[in-house]
Amino acid sequence: MIHPRHLFEEHGQEQVFRYFDDLSPDRQDELTRQASAIDLDEIDHLVETLVKHSPGSDPSSAQIEPAEYIPYASKEQDFLSWQRARTAGEQAIRKGRVAAFTVAGGQGTRLGFSGPKGTFPISPVREKSLFQIFAEKLIACSQRYQCNIPWFIMTSEENHEETYDFFSDHAWFGLQAENVNLFSQGTLPAVDREGKILLADKHRIALSPDGHGGSLRALVRSGATQKMQAKGIDILSCFQVDNPLVKCIDPDFIGFHLDEVSQLSSKTIVKNSPDEKVGVFCQKDNNTCVVEYSDLPQQLQHQLDSSGALRFRSGSIAVHLFDRKLIEQLGGNACDGSLPFHVANKKVTALDQKGQLSEIDAVKFEMFIFDALPFAKNPLVLETLRESEFSPVKNAQGKDSPESSRRDQQRQFARWFRAAGMDLPCDAKGTPEIKIEISPQFADSKEAFVEAWKSLSPPPVLEDGLVLEL
Ligand code: UTP
Repeated sequence: MIHPRHLFEEHGQEQVFRYFDDLSPDRQDELTRQASAIDLDEIDHLVETLVKHSPGSDPSSAQIEPAEYIPYASKEQDFLSWQRARTAGEQAIRKGRVAAFTVAGGQGTRLGFSGPKGTFPISPVREKSLFQIFAEKLIACSQRYQCNIPWFIMTSEENHEETYDFFSDHAWFGLQAENVNLFSQGTLPAVDREGKILLADKHRIALSPDGHGGSLRALVRSGATQKMQAKGIDILSCFQVDNPLVKCIDPDFIGFHLDEVSQLSSKTIVKNSPDEKVGVFCQKDNNTCVVEYSDLPQQLQHQLDSSGALRFRSGSIAVHLFDRKLIEQLGGNACDGSLPFHVANKKVTALDQKGQLSEIDAVKFEMFIFDALPFAKNPLVLETLRESEFSPVKNAQGKDSPESSRRDQQRQFARWFRAAGMDLPCDAKGTPEIKIEISPQFADSKEAFVEAWKSLSPPPVLEDGLVLEL
């Protein structure tokens, strides 16, 4: 067998083995192992097409139109369709056709939290972690529909062990351990601006996760899709690790997805400003797609329609339903399509020419999960309300921070109380004056809360720190 060193030389990447002869046998093995896992043909292609000849964004080459979506307002106007969708969705969940999937391999740089983001304490009173909130939502759903909902979680090489230990230390948050499937996403080497693979150390290649789009490959490689098939699961409900308001499993959404025989359905909210940093659902060359906020031309970002609303208003909250077959198609080795790569220009700590660790201007390669949309048959976009389903934890402070997310959870709880006939004192924006928390297992929706509240006799005193849980 050819030693990877020779292959790297053939591909013009000999610098990776520059220190090889001075390394201890253990370290030589480590570098060899890492190097063997790299697909050099793929790297050549990425360097050629994305580093040496940057494609740039050329919106003019394709006609961009806003994508159509099912408006939330139709819930009242077209009550029967929504009811039909819910019934179909509930039936699919009951039959065990649905699994949950969280992408949790990100590095969470903006939040600046040292552990895996899913372990971040986010509930307002109990300070439950994001993972615990999702676990409780899944338990509530399994109990309601008397079914098993396997949970797949994609970690990264960097945070896999810590994530596993967190679940294990917390007794899997009441889930059956065999129902929680953790697997790592793939990595790709970072390269410098000339396309040369960087070293994080003399015996280690500078690797980084291959983006949330890497989940399709990882789902196939890890055997998750095979497991799904064996269990008769054909719908994967995907969400990001940072949004505690997410409906992990939504029967309405699943019902529309099935009704449309869609291979990939996505949720949207109306953008709150032209420059909100979310991707936008668009129609390009007759395909539905998400255009990243940085790629949507300014003029389109601000364009208004005849009613005075933003024309490109349909923001992505990264909640999708995937047909298993689409994952198998795009994540496998079949030649009928694979996700494109994007470049991220970032500083990476790596060895410089002198063998010193320094901050190098590097290029990372990432795939985005929403790039699966143009490959999907009958893609569908369904609108939901921001206040009910989207308040991510991205930044340490300000917008999309732990503070704003806790506030949005509190506002949601206050609305549920109001629906149950209890008016909590709130400020003008609906934030309650006392801290409260409703556990997903007590109620995971307004309707469930109204019912659960009725059953409390006597009802608890509304006071600061009130927690409703089972
Ligand atoms: P973000 O784009 O917010 O990135 O990820 P991030 O890495 O979490 O945070 P920053 O940008 O470093 O501050 C959105 C979702 O995609 C997952 C994240 O875990 C999060 O759920 N993700 C991102 C992956 O699973 N893998 C990746 O390679 C990147």
